[in-house]
Amino acid sequence: MSGVTLDAFTGRYAARTAGMTTSEIRALFAVASRPEVVSLAGGMPYTTALPLDVVGKLLSDLLANRGAQALQYGSGQGDPELREMICEVMALEGVVGSPDDVVVTVGSQQALDLVTRIFCDPGDVVIAEAPSYVGALGTFAAYQADVVHVPMDAAGLVPEALREAIAAVAASGRRAKFLYTIPNFHNPAGTSLAATRRTEVLEICRTAGLLVLEDNPYGLLGFDGPPVPAIRSHGAEEHVIYLGSFSKTFAPGLRVGWVLAPHAVREKLVLASEASVLCPPAINQMLVTEYLSTQDWRGQVEVFKDLYRERRDAMLDALTTLMPVGTTWTRPAGGFYVWTTLPEGLDAKVMQPRALTARVAYVPGVGFYSDGQGAQELRLSYCFPEPDRIREGVRRLAGVVEAELDLLSTFGPTAVRALSPRGPGASTPAPNTA
Ligand SMILES: Cc1ncc(COP(=O)(O)O)c(C=O)c1O
Repeated sequence: MSGVTLDAFTGRYAARTAGMTTSEIRALFAVASRPEVVSLAGGMPYTTALPLDVVGKLLSDLLANRGAQALQYGSGQGDPELREMICEVMALEGVVGSPDDVVVTVGSQQALDLVTRIFCDPGDVVIAEAPSYVGALGTFAAYQADVVHVPMDAAGLVPEALREAIAAVAASGRRAKFLYTIPNFHNPAGTSLAATRRTEVLEICRTAGLLVLEDNPYGLLGFDGPPVPAIRSHGAEEHVIYLGSFSKTFAPGLRVGWVLAPHAVREKLVLASEASVLCPPAINQMLVTEYLSTQDWRGQVEVFKDLYRERRDAMLDALTTLMPVGTTWTRPAGGFYVWTTLPEGLDAKVMQPRALTARVAYVPGVGFYSDGQGAQELRLSYCFPEPDRIREGVRRLAGVVEAELDLLSTFGPTAVRALSPRGPGASTPAPNTA
């Protein structure tokens, strides 16, 4: 026998498992987290900057004073006190909603799952930006929904292209269920939807009878002034399902996110969530409520913003100084990500083993599309490494791109692929076919 493990259950799995593939990011995790590698791959918030002693005290007080409740099952919709506070958080981005229309979820990832579960049958279409968040694409694939991508430019989703995509889906006799969009500091593109386009996108969707699924985990992490009002803020209660999260403003390990939905949808979401997890963890919700009500959490968001701004600047400066001509990138005004396009003829996936050998990790662009685009693109994250490490990571990456260009000019594109070595992570990442 070879070393291949045969799955004895093949043939018994549900058809939907065919769409479940390893994400580029998860696959990279093992190799990218080696200390000698500068990882510009993962989008991990810098939790070291949290007041961990304070959080520890909140947690121990919580257990000492209300331990029995914190360790008990809770409401399927989520803790009412937390839902009140979530409405205050959303108000910072102009969203007015009732706590009764909020469902607390296990991160906004579970909210994505629940929304897709209640709206999408196999073969239904979800319209999404090109590129889009890999975790959402994974969810859509798991429910066998087909993604139709709409291009973005520096001002975000292109309204005219959205109109065309909606018309093309309708002309093909298929049904688009919602537009999935990340309007602020997009993961992975780093761009934001211009304020003027928000009303236009909403209007296009409203006219077409298409729901908007607005995913906004980064909205409060803007570097240049107050947040731009959310799409949901434009009198759009009946047309937008809004997702939020405490993962980027507080701590992803708590897995507390939420969905604000039109009332009827909210009822279905609660039923779906109860069927999935019974209720979100009481202790985590109570800790978030304590943190929001007793700590200067807005001040902490400012701390995060200053830190991420410095890292963004370090990355953009290093890219400007070091990257070979022909490489382009976005200039995010917030959030965690820079989207980079390699010079003509290079392939980020093919180059990846060489980058890992040079001890720098990034995420190849193909995983952020459902249709195989993105070969020339890659995502760089600046949220986790210190500025010096970011500069060093970009220096290594620039060296790899230079070497790749040398190979290309000497031997041509076919040889570049053929010469791709088996780097330290080369056997780990599985292609994301989603
Ligand atoms: C755009 C987007 N949506 C949703 C999520 C999921 O976040 P969480 O489940 O931690 O709230 C992420 C995480 O990176 C994200 O970038």
